[in-house]
Amino acid sequence: MKWPLIAYFLIGTVVIVIAGALAIPFVYESQTLWYKLGSDKTVLRAGQLVGLLALASLLIQILLGARGSLLQETFGVVALMAWHKANGILLCCLAVLHVVLVLVPEGLANLPLGTKNWPEMVGGVLLLVIFSQAISSLFRQQIGFIYKQWRTVHRTLGYVALCLAAVHVLFVADSFAQGVPRRALLAILVTVFVVVLAVKFAPFMGKLRDKR
Ligand code: HEM
Ligand code: HEM
Repeated sequence: MKWPLIAYFLIGTVVIVIAGALAIPFVYESQTLWYKLGSDKTVLRAGQLVGLLALASLLIQILLGARGSLLQETFGVVALMAWHKANGILLCCLAVLHVVLVLVPEGLANLPLGTKNWPEMVGGVLLLVIFSQAISSLFRQQIGFIYKQWRTVHRTLGYVALCLAAVHVLFVADSFAQGVPRRALLAILVTVFVVVLAVKFAPFMGKLRDKR
């Protein structure tokens, strides 16, 4: 498989951004880590790292699904769709592992339920959306979902998941309460949003140009 130079640039950028994100639980330690000792501290930090990987996987999932012309020309539609499917399954695994690892140090008897823990509850809804997306896609025919209806629901829930993830992370984790992590996350979210809008509006702009 021979990729153009831009492919290595895109993959390199993603790897650097993920590596930077994984430094956050160490450089901007959350208050929840201060009060944990020994294995509880290690498990919670692992949970934060896996949560960050899940978030990266979700953002990549949205970009792979939207299939902008740059990605299509660089990697081809077949590869993008195969990666979208594999990454969707990986996302489910990372999301469940994150939940287990952040809940275990708190004790499973102290599940973060109720309005006081609304950012965690948003995480719960996000988890359900991610799973319903993967299951309804992988077993669409068995479920009897008509392609056109599935696509409308899948698209809508995909972008709903992005919004839920933004709210969950910005309000649940104090590493993202202020400073560089918050600004960097907002910048990444705005970039993904602009890329998706550009992909959606590109055909419309093309038609407008053709009419002139
Ligand atoms: C793991 C199984 C999954 C499969 C097999 C799958 C399959 C697909 C396919 C075939 C498309 C292209 C639809 C079309 O344009 O005709 C698509 C688009 C998309 N998918 Fe998935 N998907 C999966 C999981 C997910 C998950 C977990 C998310 C996010 C939570 C997601 C978000 C999206 C988004 C945002 C789009 C782009 C919609 C658009 O065109 O605007 N997918 N998916
Ligand atoms: C039932 C579902 C979920 C619950 C209860 C939950 C709970 C939590 C909690 C308690 C934290 C704060 C950890 C701490 O700083 O002590 C957290 C952080 C985080 N969560 Fe979730 N979460 C859920 C689902 C998700 C999902 C589905 C994703 C991503 C797709 C996600 C991504 C993140 C990220 C990126 C962080 C920040 C990690 C950091 O502090 O560096 N969460 N979550």
